[in-house]
Amino acid sequence: MAVPALAVTEPESAPPIVINGGEIELPTSAPAPEFLKGVFDTIYSGWLFRDADTQAMQTDDFSNPGMIFVDQGVDQWSKVDGTEGKSCADCHKDISSMKGVRASMPKVNPDAKELWSVENYINACRTERMGAEPWEWSSAPMEAMTLAISLQSRGEPVNVKIDGDAAPYWEQGKEIYYTRYGQLQLSCANCHEDHYGDMIRADHLSQGQINGFPVYRNNGAGVVSIHERFSGCIRDTRAEPFKQGSPEFRALELYVASRGAGLPVEGASVRH
Ligand code: HEC
Ligand code: HEC
Repeated sequence: MAVPALAVTEPESAPPIVINGGEIELPTSAPAPEFLKGVFDTIYSGWLFRDADTQAMQTDDFSNPGMIFVDQGVDQWSKVDGTEGKSCADCHKDISSMKGVRASMPKVNPDAKELWSVENYINACRTERMGAEPWEWSSAPMEAMTLAISLQSRGEPVNVKIDGDAAPYWEQGKEIYYTRYGQLQLSCANCHEDHYGDMIRADHLSQGQINGFPVYRNNGAGVVSIHERFSGCIRDTRAEPFKQGSPEFRALELYVASRGAGLPVEGASVRH
C-alpha cells in the first residue's frame, strides 16, 4: 500500500447531516481547536468522505442499520443482571440520563486516578454495583450499550477535558499519534493529517475523527468501537496494535477526541 504523494484535498463543501427529514441537523465541520492551528483550519466529520449511498443511510433512523444495535442496548439497559438483582435503569433511570456522557469521554476517574473510557465506567458499574461479569471491550453487548449511550448525546459538541489531571494522558496520546509504526513506518498523522481527502487504495481518507463512534460498518463487521478502529489502522501499517482497552489506546482516544472538539456526537454513524 502506497500513501499518495499529494497534499491534503479539502472537501468542496461540508453540508450538514440532515436526519429524519430535518428533525435533526448535525454540522459536519467546525473550526479546528487552538492546538491544531497551523495544521488544520477546519475539522471534518468522517461522514463527508463516504459515498452518497452510505451517507444516505445515516439520514434516516428507520433505514440506519446501526439503530438495531441501539435498540439492543436500550433493552439491555433495563435488564436485571448480576448478584445484586439490579439493572442500569434501577440507578440511572431512563437512558436519556446519559445525555452528555459520550461528549466528555474519555475522562479521568478521580477515584481510580486513571483515564477511563465509557467502557470502563460501564464495566465498573457491572462488577462493583451489580455483581455482574464485565463485558469484553468490543463484545456485542458492550458495543450495543456504548452505541445506545452515544445516541443520547447526538448533536452535543465533543468537549473533552485535556488540561489539569488529563494533561499527561493527552500528551501520551499525542505522542502515539505522531509515532511511526510497523513495516510501513506510518503514523496516524501521515494518513489522517497529511493526506485526508486523498484516495488510498479504494478508500477516501478522512481526518480520522471519532465523533461518529461507535459506527455501524456495512462491510459485515457490524458495530465497530473506537479501539477496534485504531487497531485496524495500526494493523494496516503491519504493526502489532496495542490491546483494546489498554492505557495506550485510552490516551490515544483522548487525544483523537480532542482533535474533533466542537464536532457533534453523531450517535449511530454508518460507514462502508
Ligand atoms: C447500583 C447503582 C448503579 C447501577 C446498577 C449502574 N450504575 Fe452506572 N453509575 C452509578 C453511579 C453511582 C455512578 C457514578 C456517579 C454518576 O456519574 O452517576 C455511575 C456512573 C456511570 C457512568 C459514568 C457516567 C459519567 O457521567 O461519568 C456510566 C457510563 C454508567 N454508570 C453506566 C451504567 C450502565 C450501562 C449500567 C448497567 C449495565 C449501570 N451504569 C449500572 C450507579 C449505578
Ligand atoms: C495507512 C494509512 C492510515 C494510517 C497510518 C492510519 N489510518 Fe486510520 N484510516 C485509514 C483509512 C483508509 C480509513 C478509512 C477511511 C477514513 O475514514 O479515513 C481510516 C479510518 C480511521 C478512522 C475512522 C474515521 C471515521 O469517521 O469513520 C479513525 C478514527 C482512524 N482511522 C484513526 C486512526 C488512528 C488513531 C491512527 C493511528 C494509530 C490511524 N488511523 C492510522 C488509514 C490510515
